Amino acid sequence: MVVKSVQAPAPGSVGMELSANSVGGKKGASSKKALKKQQQAAKREANARIHAKLTSARLDDASGLPRNVLVDFVPFAKFERNGLAVDLEFYARGNGEQSMVPAEVVDFCFDLTERNMRQHYEQSGWGWNALKKRRELEDEEARLLVARDRATNKLVAFMHFRFEREDDALVLYVYEIQIEQDESVARKGLGKQIMLLAELIGRKWGMDWVMLTVLNCNTPAVQFYHKLKYTVDETSPQNDIENEGCPYTILSKQLDLSKRR
Ligand SMILES: CC(C)(COP(=O)(O)OP(=O)(O)OC[C@H]1O[C@@H](n2cnc3c(N)ncnc32)[C@H](O)[C@@H]1OP(=O)(O)O)[C@@H](O)C(=O)NCCC(=O)NCCS
Repeated sequence: MVVKSVQAPAPGSVGMELSANSVGGKKGASSKKALKKQQQAAKREANARIHAKLTSARLDDASGLPRNVLVDFVPFAKFERNGLAVDLEFYARGNGEQSMVPAEVVDFCFDLTERNMRQHYEQSGWGWNALKKRRELEDEEARLLVARDRATNKLVAFMHFRFEREDDALVLYVYEIQIEQDESVARKGLGKQIMLLAELIGRKWGMDWVMLTVLNCNTPAVQFYHKLKYTVDETSPQNDIENEGCPYTILSKQLDLSKRR
């Protein structure tokens, strides 16, 4: 997806006037230089804009702490359907009173990921790397949406996402979505609601895409994303003939439809 370089000057802009003059001779050389300078300045400006947007998504402008992205979506932080009632909580390092995500939350996320995914990782040939998974969850860019069952007060699902930059596009990257595979929790629409919430959050904070990686052997997850209209991203290794047999696929959904490929 997404490899979009900074736009060349629009027709009729100063840059175009300069390039029209730049035919041979000394004058041409200096015009070319001026054009290059202008293009570099435009690129710097575009970079600064993207950087500012990304920072604003990640951090609260006033406090500089991770932004609590649930604040704007209170009605979506509740799920009451099919006999399941949960409330979503938001965690990120440096958010709120504690400087770390509570151990209860990190332990839950890690344990659920291991229970749901270890077998898939082993089947894919990647193997299960516990330390790497734990470090991912504790990374300062990690944003966690965690679902707590109202009846039992137990944590039952989570999403780990990050606001990232991919070339000139901004992306809400879903690192993990994990739902307890208990019949009282799974397949009740909670996964779908959390994904839709991530899309709303991404849109609100100016992300162009939601992206994620799925292991090809994880058929239920592939079907889940397919149902939610995620499609194979143009950066997915499958698009390159040399990567045939690669165990994962990168999927994406465009949020900003004005930036069509
Ligand atoms: C995949 C997962 C996130 C789905 O969450 P969920 O809350 O159980 O799913 P939902 O009830 O929101 O399902 C929405 C739709 O996705 C599809 N879907 C969900 N689970 C599916 C499954 N096991 N098989 C086939 N389709 C499935 C269905 O079309 C479903 O709609 P329907 O129930 O009306 O038919 C969840 O089961 C999970 O955490 N699995 C284990 C961990 C995992 O694989 N995570 C993804 C890593 S990339």
